Amino acid sequence: MEQGVAVGVNGLKHVQVREYVRSLVAGSMPGSPAPSERELVNLFGVARMTVRQAMDALVTEGLLERVPGRGTFVARPRRTATPVTSFTEEMRRRGLLPESVTLFARREQAGPGVARALGITPGDAIIHWKRLRRADGAPMCVEDAYLNEVLLPGFLQGGMPTSLYDDLAERGLRPTWVEDNITADAASDEEADHLEIAIGAAVLRQQRRAFAEEKAVEVSRSTYRSDRFTLRLQLGLGE
Ligand code: GLP
Repeated sequence: MEQGVAVGVNGLKHVQVREYVRSLVAGSMPGSPAPSERELVNLFGVARMTVRQAMDALVTEGLLERVPGRGTFVARPRRTATPVTSFTEEMRRRGLLPESVTLFARREQAGPGVARALGITPGDAIIHWKRLRRADGAPMCVEDAYLNEVLLPGFLQGGMPTSLYDDLAERGLRPTWVEDNITADAASDEEADHLEIAIGAAVLRQQRRAFAEEKAVEVSRSTYRSDRFTLRLQLGLGE
């Protein structure tokens, strides 16, 4: 028996199934059953693999959840706090291609502010890494990272990594929590030049202190183009 659902001529089958299921479960109570794979196979006349692919995407998105031995259900909304993300991860999450252009990377002596934030003594060696960060080929932000040199032996030797947080992860120093301060401001001459915006155009400044467990590993200043960047936060009950 041909049941069939009218589907557009364009688009991949699994996308059509996925969007159909999304529209079906929109607004449903968490815990309501999702349509079964068998129903969808019959309805769309597609292979089980195609239906599986569509459902997997919705599970990954957090719209559906699988309960082993029981089936697939409308998921409870996720209530996790915003995870610590790197520029690279943030841009990928937005579907943009991240790039890292080193403006300079050098050894410096910590000034009092950076020293205090990193828990070291003024005059101790730090690494100052200044980068232009692009997304999909266009400037997104200029970033100054200050790192405790003692924790990062050999960091300045060899090529600079594309992602600082990936490099820190390999050293067991991936930031696990951060303090961010966000301020609205106007672009300086130098920032305007790097970001390809007018001098005085609106920018968003993010100052970060990042810790790997108890170790302060990074202090940074990132200046974003406010016409390209929205800061997203999820906040929950404190402990
Ligand atoms: C964000 C943070 C910076 C950090 C950077 C690392 O932009 N605000 O403090 O240095 O991510 O990004 P990546 O791992 O892509 O180099």
